[in-house]
Amino acid sequence: MSENAFGKLHTIEIDREFYENAVHDYTSYLPSLLNYVEFHFGDFRTVYSSVLEKEGTVDFLILDGAEDGQQTLEQYSFFLPYMKPGTILMVHDWLTAKTELLKPILENSDVWEIQRVLTPPDSVGFVLALRKQ
Ligand SMILES: C[S@@+](CC[C@H](N)C(=O)[O-])C[C@H]1O[C@@H](n2cnc3c(N)ncnc32)[C@H](O)[C@@H]1O
Repeated sequence: MSENAFGKLHTIEIDREFYENAVHDYTSYLPSLLNYVEFHFGDFRTVYSSVLEKEGTVDFLILDGAEDGQQTLEQYSFFLPYMKPGTILMVHDWLTAKTELLKPILENSDVWEIQRVLTPPDSVGFVLALRKQ
């Protein structure tokens, strides 16, 4: 985004201390990227409704929420209407309970093509999928 001088990364945290740390660290160490990052505080379900309304579509989504398979599935369903062919979806903790409900959906989907899976020792599990249709 910085090289293209275009785009916006939205990131959210429900824990105030983590939220403040993120704002502080970007401000201290990555100030040149601040134009491209919008920090949100609160629950994704409430805060991101208006963000998605405004943005319309999501080009790139990373899911890395609570260690809760149901929440990850809920996140996926929440964002799905805003993802289009060409959207890239990355999901962290691909090998843990966090993704156990979403994993079979992506793996058996005609809509998503899994392009990369990182496994130990490189990662605790990270997947990259491309929306085909
Ligand atoms: C695994 S951590 C994310 C770590 C972060 N991606 C990183 O690499 O530093 C998951 C975070 O999701 C936050 N979280 C949990 N439920 C949330 C919700 N409903 N809305 C927004 N954030 C939430 C937690 O407070 C926690 O800090």
